[in-house]
Amino acid sequence: MAEFFEVPNETIFTMETTPLKFGPGATGEAGYDLKRLGVRRPLLITDRGLMRTGLPDRVCRVLREADFAADLYDDVHVEPTDASWEAIASYVKDRDYDGFVAVGGGSVIDSAKAANLFTTYPAPLSDYLNKPIGKGLPVPGPLKPLVAIPTTAGTGSETTAVAVLDILSLHVKTGISHRFLRPTLAIVDPLNTLTLPPMATAYPGFDVLTHALESFTSRPYDARPRHTPDQRPVYVGRNPVSDLWCEKALEYLGRSLRRAVLNGYDMDARTDLALAATYAGIGFGNAGVHVPHALAYPIAGQVRGFVPPDYPPKAPLIPHGLSVISTAPATFRWTFPTSPERHVRAAQLLGANVGGVTDAEARHVLPRTLLELMRDTGIPDGLCALGFGEADVTNIVEGALKQERLLACSPRAVEADDLAEIVRESMRHWT
Ligand SMILES: [Fe+2]
Repeated sequence: MAEFFEVPNETIFTMETTPLKFGPGATGEAGYDLKRLGVRRPLLITDRGLMRTGLPDRVCRVLREADFAADLYDDVHVEPTDASWEAIASYVKDRDYDGFVAVGGGSVIDSAKAANLFTTYPAPLSDYLNKPIGKGLPVPGPLKPLVAIPTTAGTGSETTAVAVLDILSLHVKTGISHRFLRPTLAIVDPLNTLTLPPMATAYPGFDVLTHALESFTSRPYDARPRHTPDQRPVYVGRNPVSDLWCEKALEYLGRSLRRAVLNGYDMDARTDLALAATYAGIGFGNAGVHVPHALAYPIAGQVRGFVPPDYPPKAPLIPHGLSVISTAPATFRWTFPTSPERHVRAAQLLGANVGGVTDAEARHVLPRTLLELMRDTGIPDGLCALGFGEADVTNIVEGALKQERLLACSPRAVEADDLAEIVRESMRHWT
């Protein structure tokens, strides 16, 4: 009987997520939830940009009303680095916190995951970092409670088991993935996103969109090599359950991304985006993302002069969502043959009229739908508009090839030439 199951393919998928509290005003219940989780001495983690919005102070007030001392660490680095993770871990060390509240976007929530890990199970950074850059050792056991309160509708970090950082000395972006990194509770409150300016809505919105699309088109869980339970990766590939979350996220984005960017006070659109970010986080947090995310890391890492509107401080930066969407249309033209029906279905969920699409046109439906959405929401016209040219193709491709964990989720085998073609096709979108 045992031999019957000895097939080379994976036959099992897993689905894990963070418990969720969702709705306008949910932030006000953070104190109740910390108590419920048994926390007595929490540290609130945020960044300086968010401090200016007043939100972390409001959360501190909520915690004080629940009789917590509510210490605050506001020095998270936007786009965290090995140095910034070390700084927060050494701040937390010896301070006797028994829980964390992260108020911010992906950078803050990921830094809180790291602070929790490196002070609960101290070890050199490289021990836990993903292979091939680190040793990829498993997290030894459960961490302290972490309540994540996202302030953008973007990364989905509040539901994922991943924390990402830049390794400064290697000029490479990598991370740690392990189920114990997942926050204990996500408090998603659309009111926290109401005042985000247009591009601070659009870029994270496109991050959500690529999470959903990449997961929806990723290599199926049962078309990958078999794993033992302890070696099975966090990203298992698309499966019937991740599809549900991704499809719903695409539907919400299709009806509300434009609206939220063009009128930030549209509460229904903000609610849709917050839900979409969470749904896509659950979908990709289990299925995985592939080529656009692998390419996004070297693209963001090699920024030259591009200064994004609506982002403080006024320094060169390619926000994560912008770097991922830049190569998405070309990628989905390339992945189309692996699942034509999924690509057309995704376009339909985003609002495209796919009735009467011929076989010859089908390949272009999803890329065209994305480009229309990008153009309507102020996304720049391709990598050229971000300062890149032909001379950068090799470096971007080399950087992407290091993202083995992500490329393993690509629905077709990826060679350097494929990536180079996708990058070249992404230089200009519509001129
Ligand atoms: Fe992302």
